[in-house]
Amino acid sequence: MTAFAAIELTVYPYDCDAFGHLNQAALLALLERARWDALARGPGMDLFERNGVWPAVRKATIEYTAPVFARDVVRVETAVVNRGTTSMTLRHTVHRVSDGTPVAEAEIVFVCIDRLGRATPVPEEIVRFLGPRPSAGHTPLRVAAGDVELAVDVRGEGLPVLFVHGFPFDRTVWRHQLATLARVRRIAPDLRGVGGSAAPTGADGYALGRYADDLVAVLDAVGARDAVVCGLSMGGYITFELLRRHPGRVKALILVDTKAEADSAEAKRGRDELAVVAERAGPDALLERLLPRLLAPATHATQPEVTAQVRAMARRWSVPALVGAQRAMRDRPDSTAMLRGVRLPTLVIVGSDDAIAPPAAAQAMAQLIPGAQCHVVPAAGHLAPLEQPLATARLLADFLATLR
Ligand code: MLT
Repeated sequence: MTAFAAIELTVYPYDCDAFGHLNQAALLALLERARWDALARGPGMDLFERNGVWPAVRKATIEYTAPVFARDVVRVETAVVNRGTTSMTLRHTVHRVSDGTPVAEAEIVFVCIDRLGRATPVPEEIVRFLGPRPSAGHTPLRVAAGDVELAVDVRGEGLPVLFVHGFPFDRTVWRHQLATLARVRRIAPDLRGVGGSAAPTGADGYALGRYADDLVAVLDAVGARDAVVCGLSMGGYITFELLRRHPGRVKALILVDTKAEADSAEAKRGRDELAVVAERAGPDALLERLLPRLLAPATHATQPEVTAQVRAMARRWSVPALVGAQRAMRDRPDSTAMLRGVRLPTLVIVGSDDAIAPPAAAQAMAQLIPGAQCHVVPAAGHLAPLEQPLATARLLADFLATLR
């Protein structure tokens, strides 16, 4: 949830330069007006004064992406992206209302000062208004999503990239990419029922639609209108559902170790068996069934720490989530026809030894989407981001650089 309401403002002729464009100083003034208007709608314009502090701008960075003219109406969305003891960072995204064109993105660092100009701790009432501290380091952001609260890692600044994990993993499957990718905003939730996210009690709390709607709640909470969505395996199936339900929230696609087809009748029976194993014997027993096919032979032989991490991730799933996810995957539709209609920059990555979503399936999937690139990561199985983190991160970085 963002503390600040979205505000729409009209650009006046006197805001514009000799060529009729909204000028730089006027944009800053509009952003300031949007902040005051949002305060007026929320806790009151005197929020800072009545707490004896003033929010002084320490640093502002602005990226302009399209011109705006007199009489245009712009929508300013404001998210709290960082909060320190005495400071806070707000990100404004500005869109032209008539056609939704992104116009500018500004990041502004404020420091709370007292009447003598000294930095002073953000007062309690303002802390409450700003909401939970966005994740710094490894403290996850808590995001309300329908009937649950999700744990979300949010790191870095720039183009939003939403990482969606697979089954039975959690957000730490992306730990190398979260740590190393620069100049993008890495957003990695635990799915409902997994890791730090709350679990609905019944298996019917899980469906691809629910997972996809949760991703929208995550994007809303971090103030991202859209994102590059990077889905691993089941995370890919969820990404397809996101494309079906909320296509406007996806800016580009990264599909890792995943496939477009629905399950065969035999695969569906296998899901039902796995759900029974999970219900009767829990995550360890389920993982023993899956493990032989999850990792490349080279990983099994030489990277025991990867196997250990996979076991640890599986243990962070609640039993209803294991069962519910198996049913959601069993019932997923075929996405082949839908992907044929996708017109987004797309990167497909697959491990050379992926036994669950093999390279041939990945290549066929990439061919459905005009212009999609497909790369095979050597010596990786179904978990390329964990088994070959550097090779995977390099592919991601090269692709993301083409989008900035
Ligand atoms: C996953 O990694 O998410 C699962 O292996 C996907 C599947 O079982 O189809």
